[in-house]
Amino acid sequence: MTTTKLRVEGVHKRFGDRVVLDGIDLTVDEHEVVCLIGSSGCGKSTLLRCIDLLDPIDGGRILLDDDDVTAPGSNPNAVRRRVGIVFQSFNLFPHLRVLDNVTLGPRKALGMARDQAEARGVELLDRLGLAEQARKYPDQLSGGQQQRVAIARALVGEPELLLLDEITSALDPELVGEVLATIRELASSGMTMVLATHEMGFARDVASSVAFLHAGKVLEIGPPSQVLGEPEHERTRGFLSRVIEAGRL
Ligand SMILES: Nc1ncnc2c1ncn2[C@@H]1O[C@H](COP(=O)(O)OP(=O)(O)OP(=O)(O)O)[C@@H](O)[C@H]1O
Ligand SMILES: [Mg+2]
Repeated sequence: MTTTKLRVEGVHKRFGDRVVLDGIDLTVDEHEVVCLIGSSGCGKSTLLRCIDLLDPIDGGRILLDDDDVTAPGSNPNAVRRRVGIVFQSFNLFPHLRVLDNVTLGPRKALGMARDQAEARGVELLDRLGLAEQARKYPDQLSGGQQQRVAIARALVGEPELLLLDEITSALDPELVGEVLATIRELASSGMTMVLATHEMGFARDVASSVAFLHAGKVLEIGPPSQVLGEPEHERTRGFLSRVIEAGRL
């Protein structure tokens, strides 16, 4: 039986007069990996930020399992414990060692004991191939390693849903592969993920569904073979042909 993890229903978001999300509907089942694609400025990051309650929505609702996390009185901190997010810029604390970057959240926000948080942090760093980096500072690591530390940090609270926003865009091309391999590993371990990406090859490879955003709506959604291979909409075809021209598919 499939269980729905995330339901985005008719979500609207404006910045001033500019309507960015104009009735977004999106359903993500447990263990699914949904890739958001679309032109720059189409609202991918905004949607991820709204799901993590970093930006308030102007209409619609967002449900995690059956909990309406956008209802008045919902506790954003409680929601963020259930949802991990990783950004393009890793946002690690430069003055903290890798292990402390990873364990700070659960120690401060969840009140987890240092021993317990560190045991979990070490295990995660090991899983992500970063065991040797635990005592180093972020600037002693490559960009790819730093991004994997940011992923470890997002996972340490054991989120039910992981949001990833263009996590390879700031990396040198030769470092992209190691971060994508980490995401692939998380996907095969059953992590539910929504990720915004310009890496169409990766979307084709890892996504259960690909959602094409245009003019504030999900214009087309389906398996990667359909949306990337035989798109229904002219807009999707136009976007993909520009992607192909740029050598990204
Ligand atoms: N805090 C903000 N204040 C005002 N406008 C914003 C804000 N954040 C985003 N926008 C606008 O909302 C629109 C959508 O931005 P968003 O960052 O979600 O796009 P995106 O699809 O993630 O683009 P990219 O592929 O370049 O990352 C853009 O027009 C952007 O300028
Ligand atoms: Mg973005």
